[in-house]
Amino acid sequence: MEDTEARRTDLPPGYPYDYFHFQSQIGLTKHGGGFNATKDLLALCGVRDGQHILDVGCGAGITTSYIAREYDCHVTGVDIFDEMVARAREQAERVGVADRTEFRVADALDLPFDDDTFDVTLCESVTAFSGDKPRSLREVVRVTKPGGYVGLNEGTFTEAPTPELVKYIGRMFGPVTEFLSPDAWVRLLEGAGLQDIVVQVRGLEVGDALSAIKPVGCRGLVRASARMVVVLLRDRSARQFAGRSTSVPARLLSTMKFGLYVGRK
Ligand SMILES: C[S@@+](CC[C@H](N)C(=O)[O-])C[C@H]1O[C@@H](n2cnc3c(N)ncnc32)[C@H](O)[C@@H]1O
Repeated sequence: MEDTEARRTDLPPGYPYDYFHFQSQIGLTKHGGGFNATKDLLALCGVRDGQHILDVGCGAGITTSYIAREYDCHVTGVDIFDEMVARAREQAERVGVADRTEFRVADALDLPFDDDTFDVTLCESVTAFSGDKPRSLREVVRVTKPGGYVGLNEGTFTEAPTPELVKYIGRMFGPVTEFLSPDAWVRLLEGAGLQDIVVQVRGLEVGDALSAIKPVGCRGLVRASARMVVVLLRDRSARQFAGRSTSVPARLLSTMKFGLYVGRK
């Protein structure tokens, strides 16, 4: 890995800087199941008008802005990476929801909110990257109102990954990233005090991945593609990262799944 990680001493040890820096430059972040999974997660969490929603690890803010546009909600997005927060603010401006969204740089392990603040707290593909998953779950539960919902979408293995996959994941996402079994995710939710837990584990489908285009539209896709070309032309470390990411072991796509994990406080 290049010296990119050394440039960002404000990020936690093991933070997959190359991966997220690349995504932030392009202005797109992702999670398993794309937009289809987001809609299902929001339904499972009972998101409705008038609520205050927290999107932890909001990335480029696609979900944050979608909720604010679709529901009459106030949505707060936090991300540990300031470049992501900048992208998320741009997205909110673009879709005209800046007045109903708020973005902050914050660590999921130490959320800058009072207890019992939010009706629903979401983490889409965030907890897997945390070096302290139990604490991350305790924090999201702490800031959620009693009776409110916590909804996760996280990478999931239903069978033990091969050593080749473990190596690839380490190379791509760094040493603390771990995609757990459904049982292990459920234990984390239960350990943080959530009840009535609902689990939906699904495979990675092309149609779901393509659904991620819906909330950004064709313009968003063209913008992201153009940015990717510029980044790859200009940035040597981005080219090296892209090179590393192309050698995806075939078994990853067939054995890697994602899970929606929802619990009530
Ligand atoms: C895979 S991206 C997903 C982004 C967004 N939720 C989405 O689905 O498009 C993971 C995001 O989590 C953020 N993240 C990772 N660790 C975090 C932490 N400890 N606290 C807050 N954000 C974190 C990363 O910076 C990145 O933007």
